Amino acid sequence: MALPKPHGGKLIQSYNPNYDLTGISKEILIDAIALSDLELIGVGLFSPLTGFLAKADYESVVEKMRLADGTIWSIPVTLPVSAEKAKELAAGETFKLIHEGEVYGVITISEWYEPDLSKEAREVYKTEELAHPGVKRLFERGPVYAAGEVTLIKKPGKGVAEDVWFEPKDTRALFEEKGWKTVVGFQTRNPVHRAHEYIQKAALETVDGLFLNPLVGETKSDDIPADVRLKSYRVLLENYYPKERTQLAVYPAAMRYAGPREAIFHAIARKNFGCTHFIVGRDHAGVGNYYGTYDAQHIFSHFTEEELGIKPLFFEHSFYCNKCEGMASDKTCPHSKEDRVILSGTKVREMLRNGELPPSTFSRKEVVEVLIEGMREKETV
Ligand code: ADX
Repeated sequence: MALPKPHGGKLIQSYNPNYDLTGISKEILIDAIALSDLELIGVGLFSPLTGFLAKADYESVVEKMRLADGTIWSIPVTLPVSAEKAKELAAGETFKLIHEGEVYGVITISEWYEPDLSKEAREVYKTEELAHPGVKRLFERGPVYAAGEVTLIKKPGKGVAEDVWFEPKDTRALFEEKGWKTVVGFQTRNPVHRAHEYIQKAALETVDGLFLNPLVGETKSDDIPADVRLKSYRVLLENYYPKERTQLAVYPAAMRYAGPREAIFHAIARKNFGCTHFIVGRDHAGVGNYYGTYDAQHIFSHFTEEELGIKPLFFEHSFYCNKCEGMASDKTCPHSKEDRVILSGTKVREMLRNGELPPSTFSRKEVVEVLIEGMREKETV
């Protein structure tokens, strides 16, 4: 097996720190999500996208999970602007993309359009309820979408966790160097608990390398902050994972909480990193009760593996079972609920906040210590 080609066939790389900004006076102010999208388009993690989606691509993605040319793409990557700003936009004109006073890139406008946000919410998130964090954000962002190719001028992510910040071109070289012919990608927005570790290691039994790829972009406010999580991943890897078969790297994207659609999106980004396989467990990228436990697995049946270019590995709900005396899943454990150690994310966060240790059958002691310490520090600053 060879590492997969980037999605769409070619790795997009538009980073140019020497871009000449003379004569470009117009600006678009962008939020943290657009900034992260700009970066990920620029370094090729969102290949084949070269910019923010044009109307035909946007509508096709919303309706069919494909770009207008038929390439699989499940989440709209768009640049929302205010109605005021839209009046300034002119096709063919280049605008600086500014976040907190700094220029991070430029966009050459191809067009702008008013999206049907209700339809986007229904199709992509399967709900229009504002209680859904992705939907809330969708409606809060601008009512007009600006489209056009972008150039990344400054990389915002670099510096946050420099040693584990890689672009697709770097990870592809790294996998080659390590001699990994098969690599399984793992997405997470949480600390790695025993269930995560179990499915990662089960996958690692059949492939050469594990690419632990936590999302560190925007998440909802009650998710555990990325810097604390990073510390917890490091201590876990140090103590429980084979160094020569594991690679940690950040995934600097914003979380959409779009469940099934986001699972496809996550898989494509990992394919661009060079992964051959991608883990999808229970309620992948889900939030609340908006998606069925295995909807994010079922959605893969819309596409062939050849077309998607990365093989999803599905896992059932996993847990420690006191009767099995080990990790198991709905698929392998015959015992009852009472025998299983299952804690909700909300419950765990509450325990950590109170300085209580979740059991070692749920989470490794070293991980829990880092989390409690991290939460304490956050509360005192
Ligand atoms: S996610 O939003 O990034 O998907 P999370 O970090 O909880 O959330 O999950 C990371 C991956 O592990 C996802 O593929 C998810 O489906 C899977 N997963 C999480 N918990 C379990 C579990 N107990 N059993 C099986 N799979 C799980």
